[in-house]
Amino acid sequence: MAAGVVERVVQHIASLGHHPALGETSIDDIRAELRAAAPRSAQSLEGVLAPFFDDWVHRSFGTAHPGYLAFIPGGGLFSAALADFISAATNRYTGVQVAAPALVELEATALDWLREWMGFPAEARGWFTTGGSLANFSAIVAAREKLLGEHLRDGVMYASSQVHHCVTKSAQLAGILPDRVRTIGVDESFAMDVEALSVAIDADTAAGLRPFLVVSSAGTTNTGAVDPLVEIGALCRQRSLWHHVDGAYGAFFHMVPELRPLLAGLSDADSVTLDPHKGLFLPYGTGALLVRDGEDLRSAHAATAGYLPPPGDAETYDPSQYGPELSRPFRGLRVWLTVQMYGVERLRAAIAEKRTLTLDIAARLEQIDGLVIDAAPALSLFPFHLHAPGWTPDDDDGATRALVDRVNARGRVMITGCTTAGCYYARICVLSFRTRQEQVDHAVDDIRNAARELLAAVR
Ligand SMILES: Cc1ncc(COP(=O)(O)O)c(C=O)c1O
Repeated sequence: MAAGVVERVVQHIASLGHHPALGETSIDDIRAELRAAAPRSAQSLEGVLAPFFDDWVHRSFGTAHPGYLAFIPGGGLFSAALADFISAATNRYTGVQVAAPALVELEATALDWLREWMGFPAEARGWFTTGGSLANFSAIVAAREKLLGEHLRDGVMYASSQVHHCVTKSAQLAGILPDRVRTIGVDESFAMDVEALSVAIDADTAAGLRPFLVVSSAGTTNTGAVDPLVEIGALCRQRSLWHHVDGAYGAFFHMVPELRPLLAGLSDADSVTLDPHKGLFLPYGTGALLVRDGEDLRSAHAATAGYLPPPGDAETYDPSQYGPELSRPFRGLRVWLTVQMYGVERLRAAIAEKRTLTLDIAARLEQIDGLVIDAAPALSLFPFHLHAPGWTPDDDDGATRALVDRVNARGRVMITGCTTAGCYYARICVLSFRTRQEQVDHAVDDIRNAARELLAAVR
């Protein structure tokens, strides 16, 4: 069975580039087939895998395709698939340390590598989450527990208008209601306006509320902006607020020593969200949270029960004491095995290469008639739009949407856009380990051709 599955998977991966980067996503013709009743008896494995690999999986955004420059890519390293296979086949329990101490130690080791790459101190602790959303949630809970205690209703948190929507959703889940979440404006590069942040904190303090948390972004999803982390950190320390950095998109750039200045201030934050399923190229399902003072995370999540062995002390890493889960997948093995198989230097080189490729695309797009780069890439993501003399902002939006559709219809790369502050921007994010110079050249050619056609239509 395993050999049959591996053969299918290997064929699938080898053929990724032969499929369009944006697959057909209509399933109207196969909905009935997909909604079939549960079979009364066992089916042949090959029989059920055939439609999965031949048809269903291709009806999707090509998130593993080398030309996937949409949303935030990652690619999905095969090493993690091997790790998942081993974890599921051995099925050991990594919720509590005592149930599989050697395996939990591997997870602690992988977290410690992340800690070191982020420049966090030895007392930092964290946990491997399902993704960035839960890491941000857990950070908000830890900050709330430390700084608000029972004064929940008075607590106010701050984030820019560009923060990922999971932060406001997490605030709500954590009991911070929408009227206590302040949206701070951004500058022309879409980064948080620190002066406006300071004014908002002062106004809330004067009104008798309790400012407790600033969430800044180390790479926003819309345009890739990095908030001024040094200044925000200094303000938080001065006013005794918790500074959480959502680095779901960008934190892994800190792993590369020569790129660290782009994320200056990240190492001084109280907590940071990372998403190995983005910047470390893993498949979906692995995020991470690191909290500077591990005790702050532990005291917000620690719990036990009479039927369980007593939790380990602060020196012994016990996953269930640092996050909301008890039974959980052994996510750390994906990170641990990947780093073992590739080594730190190769991963660093791949991350650095994504930035170099992005700078190359941005420089070449800038030369194309009608294309406007709206913000230079802070890391490996930037927004742009199409404009011709005499066009209104609505004309720009319509033409930019048409450009994205034309590029995607060509099938060699997939890009997406975003609407923010009433404008539509196309965006490119290079972060899949499979994206190389060839795909960058395709992107530039396809965007140039689409821009030319759209401009010719109005001239
Ligand atoms: C900056 C940022 N924060 C948070 C998230 C949410 O992460 P996840 O989808 O892993 O839950 C994303 C997802 O793209 C993101 O880009």
